[in-house]
Amino acid sequence: MQDSSNNRINRPLKIALRVFAITLTIAGVVLFLVKSSTLSNDKVEQEYVAQGANRIENGIHVRTGLIEGEGLMEVVYNCTNCHTAQIIIQNRMNAEAWATTIDWMQETQNLWDLGENEDIIINYLVTNYPVKPKGRRVNLVDVEWYELDE
Ligand code: HEC
Repeated sequence: MQDSSNNRINRPLKIALRVFAITLTIAGVVLFLVKSSTLSNDKVEQEYVAQGANRIENGIHVRTGLIEGEGLMEVVYNCTNCHTAQIIIQNRMNAEAWATTIDWMQETQNLWDLGENEDIIINYLVTNYPVKPKGRRVNLVDVEWYELDE
């Protein structure tokens, strides 16, 4: 008798405990899922920001206007801090002239030592912005040339 009445009292308690345990478990799982999903949201956002800053559209690095190619990011990180990339895009030089220009910036404009990146950068520049061949068309004759003011 004692036992069965105990059982009768305990059963709702047991059920309540079980429900409580299940609820806790579910709450734990939900918390874990929410947490991991916000974590991955952060990651996605970081990637989004990174991609936004260095977005490439139609082969062009949107932020700087530089052509996508091997060495692009080295150029972006070392050559667009002091002036825009336009100054680079407008200047077409061979490797030797680029090395001289870089030397000049290092000596007079506080450009840092580029280390191994110097070759990568010069290679990028001569590959993507080669010296324009002269005489793509037959030179005009009988034209009155005037000096351009720089
Ligand atoms: C520490 C700052 C700094 C960095 C970094 C820098 N430059 Fe310059 N650069 C200058 C300054 C200052 C000038 C002169 C700008 C002017 O005349 O208005 C210049 C001028 C130039 C010119 C024009 C040269 C000329 O003869 O008129 C080119 C081309 C150039 N930079 C390319 C580069 C390249 C390529 C890189 C990366 C390797 C680079 N710059 C990185 C400071 C820098």
